[in-house]
Amino acid sequence: MKGILLAGGSGTRLHPITLAASKQLLPVYDKPMVYYPLSTLMLAGIRDIMIISTPADLPQFRRLLGDGSRFGVQFSFAEQPKPDGIAQAFLIARDWLGGQACALALGDNLIHGEHLSVLLRAAVSRPEGATVFACQVRDPERYGVVTFDEAGHALEIVEKPAMPQSNWAVTGLYFYDKRVGELAASIQPSARGELEITDLNKLYLEEGTLHVERLGRGAAWLDAGTPDSLMQAATFVQTIQSRQGMLVGSPEEVAFRKGFIDVEQLRAHAKQLGKTELGRFLSDLADGHV
Ligand code: DAU
Repeated sequence: MKGILLAGGSGTRLHPITLAASKQLLPVYDKPMVYYPLSTLMLAGIRDIMIISTPADLPQFRRLLGDGSRFGVQFSFAEQPKPDGIAQAFLIARDWLGGQACALALGDNLIHGEHLSVLLRAAVSRPEGATVFACQVRDPERYGVVTFDEAGHALEIVEKPAMPQSNWAVTGLYFYDKRVGELAASIQPSARGELEITDLNKLYLEEGTLHVERLGRGAAWLDAGTPDSLMQAATFVQTIQSRQGMLVGSPEEVAFRKGFIDVEQLRAHAKQLGKTELGRFLSDLADGHV
């Protein structure tokens, strides 16, 4: 399965910070924001990843991430000239996808929790249909909202409903089968002029192949699109890392634990990061202390 990391948009809710800087490259505590969804894709075992961003910001992503060999993965880069919708990612990536199954991670979403790798593995290995993850939130009107019947089957998904019928928001992590390019091409722009990811999910829902995985108390989902949520995400990462001594969102750690890089490559990362906490943690990991 391939993976797309979507990191474009204009970040208007973070102006003036994002007037001259890409939102997804802003720091979330000790790492660039994009490291968190990148780590999630890698945790799912995905090694062929396309980064999509604006023409102005893409060079910075290339500079940060390189060709992927440092993480034992392969990066491709593509421009999205205008933010015409999340589902447009599959049209931009269509040739590169070559009719393969694909996951999509939004560059400003952070998911962390117990058993996440098990859920990700299940999503990757589902041969047909799509998998999305839902999480309970206090402000569902900001998101795609899913309702369930009594047996727990997804009934309906609505994008940013004025009157949400549930508090289950669809997170920015999606897994699709090999028909995704074709199905994305059949979507029409919404009233706000965007190719909506919710419309793509509805196609799978209508044919009965949308698997909605509900994330419970053991999982945290944060997005970092506003000053408050950016601050909350940073505090979350700081709290877990300093209290539990575990890293959140380190592609170096995931690469090592998944066997994408060896211990010498991990040591090289630790050395490059020098005396930072992150560098120290990676060095301990290489020495077998964590
Ligand atoms: O965070 C999860 C939510 O993401 C879902 O619940 C919603 O169903 C989904 O529509 C989306 O809602 P947002 O309001 O967060 O979408 P937003 O327009 O803010 O875009 C999300 C990220 O994707 C953001 O980091 C910018 C990037 N993006 C967005 C669009 C529309 C692009 O790179 N290109 C685009 O064309």
